Amino acid sequence: MTLRFPQFPLLLLCFCCSVIIAHRDEDPVTKTMEDFSGYPIDEPHSFFQKSLSLLSVDTESLQKEIDELAAFSDTPAPSVTRILYTEKDVLARRYIKNLMGLSGLSVREDAVGNIFGRWDGHEPELPAVATGSHIDAIPYSGKYDGVVGVLGAIEAINVLQRSGFRPRRSLEVILFTSEEPTRFGISCLGSRLLAGSEVLVEALKTTVDAQNRSFLDAARSAEYAKDQDDLSSVFLKKGTYSAFVELHIEQGPLLEEEGISIGIVTAIAAPASIKLEFEGNGGHAGAVLMPHRNDAGLAAAELALAVEKHVLESGSIDTVGTVGILELHPGAINSIPSKSHLEIDTRDIDEQRRNIVIEKIQHSASKIAIDRGVRLSEFKIINQDPPALAEKTIIGAMEAASKELNLKHKLMISRAYHDSLFMARVSPMGMIFIPCYKGYSHKPEEYASSQDIANGVKVLALTLAKLSLH
Ligand SMILES: *[C@@H]1O[C@H](CO)[C@@H](O)[C@H](O)[C@H]1NC(C)=O
Ligand SMILES: [Zn+2]
Repeated sequence: MTLRFPQFPLLLLCFCCSVIIAHRDEDPVTKTMEDFSGYPIDEPHSFFQKSLSLLSVDTESLQKEIDELAAFSDTPAPSVTRILYTEKDVLARRYIKNLMGLSGLSVREDAVGNIFGRWDGHEPELPAVATGSHIDAIPYSGKYDGVVGVLGAIEAINVLQRSGFRPRRSLEVILFTSEEPTRFGISCLGSRLLAGSEVLVEALKTTVDAQNRSFLDAARSAEYAKDQDDLSSVFLKKGTYSAFVELHIEQGPLLEEEGISIGIVTAIAAPASIKLEFEGNGGHAGAVLMPHRNDAGLAAAELALAVEKHVLESGSIDTVGTVGILELHPGAINSIPSKSHLEIDTRDIDEQRRNIVIEKIQHSASKIAIDRGVRLSEFKIINQDPPALAEKTIIGAMEAASKELNLKHKLMISRAYHDSLFMARVSPMGMIFIPCYKGYSHKPEEYASSQDIANGVKVLALTLAKLSLH
C-alpha cells in the first residue's frame, strides 16, 4: 500500500474526535486512522488544511460528462427525455457503468437495474457507505436532476482516490432505477424495491405501461429481470449500509436567493396521493334542468376547493395539497359531466397532520357525493408514505464537511421527495442540496453552475470519507 498523502485522514478527525478521545488507547477507529496517517490523531491544525487542499474536483470533466449524458435523450437539446428501459436509457446506463469501471469500482446490477459501483474499504465486511441518485428524466426535462447525484458521486470517489484517501468501510455509488414515475406510474421504483416493498413486488407482476407493455417484458428488453417474475431478490439485506447520502439540485429557489452553497437536508416531506371518481347521470346541457341534475363535474370542483380548505386548516406552512388532475367525461361543451376523475397530491413533514388532511378529503368526498346525488365510485389512496428524517451523525458529517471547506450552508427540508426517502427505511440517510437556477427543474431551463456542482461534490466526498472511517 502506498500512502502518497498520509496526512489526509487527519482532516476527518474533527468529526469523530469527540468519540475517540475518550478511548484513544483501545478505539479501533483511532488505530486504523493512526496506522493510515502515520501521525497521532491530535496533530496540529495545519495537516487538516493541507489535506483539504487535496480535494480537487475535475470540474471540466464532470461538466463534459453531464453534457454527454444529456445527449442520450429522445427529445432534442436542451431538453432531455430519458424513460425507463428505452434504448436511450440503456445507453445512458452503459455510459455510467463504463465511468464506474474507469474509477476502479466493481459494478453489479440487480434484477430491476439498480446499478452499484463499489470501492472496497480495508474493512470490507463492515456495512458500506453509499451515495447515489437517478438518471431517468421525464419528457422535456433538464440535465441536472438526479444526474448531479450520480456523476457527482463518481467524481467524489475520484476526488478521494486522487487525494490518496483509503476508505475503511467500502464506498458504493448507486444508480437507482426509475425515480420518475413516467413509464409505469411508480415513482422511486428502484429504491422502493431496495427498501423491501412486498406490495410493489406483487404490483410489478401485473404493471403495464400506456402501450400495455408489461413491466417485466420491458425490463427483459433491457436485459433485467431475466428468469424471475418475483423481484424480491432486489431487497437489500438489513445492515447493508451504515449510511446513505444523496447529492441533488435543490429544485427550489432558496439556496440561490440566499447565496448559500450547500443545503443540508434534515427531513423529506411525506407524500401521499389519492385517485377518485364521481359518477352522475350526465345528460343534455340544454334539456336537463338544474333541479334534475347530478353533475359529477361540480362534485369534482367542490372537492378541489375542499382540498385547499383542509390543507389550510392544518395551520402549517409545511402542509400542501394539489389537485393536479381533473378530468371530465364525456368532455363536451353541451354535455353534463357524467364522470369526473381527480388525482390529489398532499404532503407534509408531519405524517399525522398529513393523514388528517387525507381523512378530511375522504369525508368531504363522501359528503359531496351525498349532497349532490352522485356516486363516489372510486376512492383510492395510491401511496401514503411516511416522512424521512436525516440521521444525526450524517447531518453532523455534512455540516462538518461544509465548515471545513468554508462553504456557506444551512439546514433545510426537502419538499420534493427522492430515492433517499425510501433508502431511509433501510439505512441512516442524509441529503446534500446545491443551488439551481431560479429553482427550475423538470424543464430544459434547469441549470446548476459548475462551481456549485463542484462544491457539492467536495462536500459529498468529505462526508463519505468521514462516514467511511466512522
Ligand atoms: C393488454 O395485454 C394483455 C396481454 O397481452 C391483453 O390480455 C389485454 O387485453 C391488453 N389490454 C389492452 C387494453 O389492450
Ligand atoms: Zn431527482
